[in-house]
Amino acid sequence: MDATLIKTVNRLQDAFATVGVQNPVDLPQIVVIGSQSSGKSSVLENIVGRDFLPRGTGIVTRRPLVLQLINRPRTNSTEGGPSQTKGSENSKKSAEEADEWGEFLHIPGVKFTDFNKIREEIVKDTEAKTGKNAGISPQPINLRIFSPNVLTLTLVDLPGLTKVPVGDQPKDIEKQIRDMILKYITKPNAIILAVTAANTDLANSDGLKVAREVDPEGSRTIGVLTKIDLMDQGTDVVDILAGRVIPLRLGYVPVVNRGQKDIESRKAISMALEAERAFFENHPAYKSKAQYCGTPFLARKLNMILMHHIRNTLPEIKAKIQAALGKYLTELAQLGDPLDENGKNASLVLNIITEFCSEFRTIIDGNSQELSSF
Ligand code: GDP
Ligand code: NA
Ligand code: MG
Repeated sequence: MDATLIKTVNRLQDAFATVGVQNPVDLPQIVVIGSQSSGKSSVLENIVGRDFLPRGTGIVTRRPLVLQLINRPRTNSTEGGPSQTKGSENSKKSAEEADEWGEFLHIPGVKFTDFNKIREEIVKDTEAKTGKNAGISPQPINLRIFSPNVLTLTLVDLPGLTKVPVGDQPKDIEKQIRDMILKYITKPNAIILAVTAANTDLANSDGLKVAREVDPEGSRTIGVLTKIDLMDQGTDVVDILAGRVIPLRLGYVPVVNRGQKDIESRKAISMALEAERAFFENHPAYKSKAQYCGTPFLARKLNMILMHHIRNTLPEIKAKIQAALGKYLTELAQLGDPLDENGKNASLVLNIITEFCSEFRTIIDGNSQELSSF
């Protein structure tokens, strides 16, 4: 997630924490939907920037994964240290000093600092509840990731839409998965990432079809086109990106994730992102618009949607604080006390929030143009 956004939202949340208001901004949930093996888990992982989700051919994601990212400032012991801990280095640090770790709701109190172990636990608990033979369950796995590098936000990874039951799957697998998906995307607060593999027909996209049922205006659906690298030579998605096939108000973003071979060879996310950038910059159909392609652009687009969401909720939040502050100051005055330290703090907080609101607007207005459609 974009560092500026993380910083500004943290400032806002700090300001509110000073007056005792928790989580003033109810950030949207980002929900990933689409056909089985279209690349949903891969997209989610790239957005988070860490390897921790089971991915692969066939039905790998068999229960919803509700992933809560929680921003937690870097601890003092590592502040100003030699370098940021990244990737597997993290696992060498003790749980006490780790900057980033995961915790499962079903294993309270256990800190996972090794992200490979997080993936293993997801697989293990999936099998514990659904068996090994492709069974599914609507019972979610709840995982929290604490990190200084994330925005406090919820992401949901879901099983893919599929029609024909295999293994231990129920006869009505299609309906069961649809119901599971609908439960998460019906919430007006959900931002839907409708994932479609570019080497399949967009008109048959299950993800787009389901998204349209709950968001007919397309005001909270982003189309994500994966596997651009697997398209037949001479074909491209330029018509789709230009809105000439199935237009979406928020548009489409083409991405290249790691392929099955990359997963087997454990290709790092950083390498994959570099390869993705090179792919779009060198491709004859995309090179003139390369800045509107790839995972970093998708992440910026999500940030922009989040910022607009926050901006829209700011006046309401501000009014609430103002009312609370007014009441508080009146009470203080009635007690006959001079304005004490708390009173001063409270006005200070209001000033910070007012300043923050205008600062926020400037940031959004500065970025909006860059994000105009393909
Ligand atoms: P999901 O079932 O929708 O969650 O899809 P996964 O993320 O598990 O990916 C399914 C398979 O497709 C895996 O083998 C991935 O490596 C592969 N895959 C996903 N996205 C891409 C892509 O953009 N390019 C290539 N070549 N393979 C991809
Ligand atoms: Na899959
Ligand atoms: Mg998956």
